[in-house]
Amino acid sequence: MKKCIFFTLVTLATSAAYAEDLSKYQEESRAVVMPFLKQLATENQKAISEGGPESAIKVCKDIAPKMAGDISRQNGWKLSRVSLKVRNPLLGTPDAWEQKNLQEFTALAAKGEKAETMEVAEIVQEPAGKSFRFMKAIAMKPGCIACHGNAEQIPANIKARLSEEYPHDKATGYSVGQIIGAVSVKRPI
Ligand code: HEC
Repeated sequence: MKKCIFFTLVTLATSAAYAEDLSKYQEESRAVVMPFLKQLATENQKAISEGGPESAIKVCKDIAPKMAGDISRQNGWKLSRVSLKVRNPLLGTPDAWEQKNLQEFTALAAKGEKAETMEVAEIVQEPAGKSFRFMKAIAMKPGCIACHGNAEQIPANIKARLSEEYPHDKATGYSVGQIIGAVSVKRPI
C-alpha cells in the first residue's frame, strides 16, 4: 500500500514538472517562431510590392532557409519549415512526428478550425535521446497564391521558373486559409 502511494506521488510530481517544462519550452519556441513567420510575411509583401511576384521567390528560397539556419545555430535547436506537399524535399520533408501532426492540423482545418491558432508541443523520446518538439501551422495567405495557388492563379513567368527549378513540385493548389505547412522546432533536452 505504502509503495502504491509513493508511486502515485512520484507520478504526480513528475507530471507537474513535465507540464511546467513543456509550457516553458513552448513559450520559448513561440517567442522565436512568431517573429520568424512575421518577418517572412513582411519580406514577401515587400518583395512583391517592389519587384512583382517573381522577385519574391528569393524569400522562400534564400531568406527563409537562411533565417532558419541562423536561428538553429544560435539556439542549438533545429528550426525548419515542413509540409506534406513539398517544393524542396531536402528542406521541407517532414519526419514521422511532423507528418502525424501536419495531418491532424489539416483534418482540423477541414472541420473549420483556424490555421493561425494551431500548434502542438510534446516531449518525445527517440532512439538518440529526448527532445522537446513544437510545431506551428502556416496558413496560406493571399501573398502566397502567385506561387502556391491553383495552376490558373500562377503567372506564366513563375510557372516557367518553378517547372524548371522544381520539376517535381508538389507545393501548389492551396487556397487562402488552408494549411500550407508548419514551422517545426526540435530541441534536445
Ligand atoms: C514568388 C514565389 C513564392 C511566393 C510568393 C511564396 N513562395 Fe513559398 N516557396 C517558393 C519556392 C521557390 C519554394 C522552395 C524553396 C526552396 O528551394 O527551398 C517555396 C517553399 C515554401 C515552403 C517550404 C516547403 C516546400 O514546399 O519546400 C513553405 C512552407 C512555403 N513556401 C510557404 C509560403 C507561404 C506561407 C507564402 C506566403 C506568405 C509563400 N510560400 C509565398 C516560392 C514562393
